[in-house]
Amino acid sequence: MNTELQSWLGSEIESLKQQNLYKSPKILESPAGGRVKMNGKEVVNLSSNNYLGLANHPKVRQAAEEAIEKWGVGAGAVRWIGGTMSVHDELERKLAKFKKVEAVLVFTGGFTANSGCIPAVLTPEDVVISDELNHASIIDGVRLSPAKYKKSEGFVYDHKNMDHLEQILKNTQGFKKRMIITDGVFSMDGDIAPLPQIVELAERYNAFVMVDDAHASGVLGKNGAGTASHFDLYGRVDIQLGTLSKALGVVGGYIAGSALLKDWLINRGRPYLFSTAHPPMVAAALIAALDIMENDPEPMKRLWDNTRWWKSHLAEAGFDTMGSETPITPVFVGDEGKAQQMEKALWDEGVFALSIAYPTVARGKARLRTMPSAAHTEEDLGFALEAFKRVRDRI
Ligand SMILES: Cc1ncc(COP(=O)(O)O)c(C=O)c1O
Repeated sequence: MNTELQSWLGSEIESLKQQNLYKSPKILESPAGGRVKMNGKEVVNLSSNNYLGLANHPKVRQAAEEAIEKWGVGAGAVRWIGGTMSVHDELERKLAKFKKVEAVLVFTGGFTANSGCIPAVLTPEDVVISDELNHASIIDGVRLSPAKYKKSEGFVYDHKNMDHLEQILKNTQGFKKRMIITDGVFSMDGDIAPLPQIVELAERYNAFVMVDDAHASGVLGKNGAGTASHFDLYGRVDIQLGTLSKALGVVGGYIAGSALLKDWLINRGRPYLFSTAHPPMVAAALIAALDIMENDPEPMKRLWDNTRWWKSHLAEAGFDTMGSETPITPVFVGDEGKAQQMEKALWDEGVFALSIAYPTVARGKARLRTMPSAAHTEEDLGFALEAFKRVRDRI
């Protein structure tokens, strides 16, 4: 063991602890769901992205089991070297039809879809124009690209501020390609990007648009087809990212767009080129999950019924949900220490609701990030609401 490395790791971790930024995960001991067993305790889980409850759906499980029988457990290779099985191909065809685009390319995660796609479509002559609240995987993807992108150089617009975006578009006319990139649903605040205005500005100033629909997939649009569907912008968003890890309940990410885009990413998307394909059971489970999303309206209805119930009861009880418009429901606390205290007190009451603080969000804007889902019953949410009220009164 190298002592330099070990002592550096030790002191960095100590520093994180002192700033209250140190994280260690709780361990799930049951399948994902509304009520789970975690660290030996039964709790209502308000910190899962299992929006539609598909992570443990019997039909999805069955599809995975049958795929193991048929295909075994591994693809054995990188997609282009021989790891693409017909089940991977079938998933991509079905996703393209669902999204109403020419083609879809699946990556092993939403994170890798961003870090694979963004740098692949940019050159040193290009610029990326980003919303200031974009997700870390967008930021990392952009950093891997040779394009200009920095906030200090004026290429990041204030959150959802369309006047600011237009100003940047005016200032960047000299670049060859200009990419506007935004979360479709913002992952910490739960608000929706003004995609119609973004697309109009892009068309007016000859830029192209990429939207990260990780939290819109399965949540917004027809059968959960995302923000382009929600705003009826079919054919006007150049690149859409979707995740297969959240509402679809398994794991993966995809890029939806033109056939040329897919062709290019097969040739230049580095995580696609250099990382092994999904196990076939993942692709098979995803086909089953997609089938449920397209043909069974019940999970999405339950998700939105629960979301409305949760938000309206929180508001009635005097909590501030920060203008969230989707199931992602931040409960504003403000002070970082108090948010952590509330998380601990809720845990003691049998509710798991993670506190989010600086640097993930701005200082003084700490919140408990809650996620109602189709997997919750009204009883689960009622139980959580009463716990929230008691904890608020105590702290
Ligand atoms: C906006 C956004 N994009 C991408 C991702 C990454 O997706 P995945 O979990 O499939 O890697 C996340 C995950 O939290 C996200 O919130």
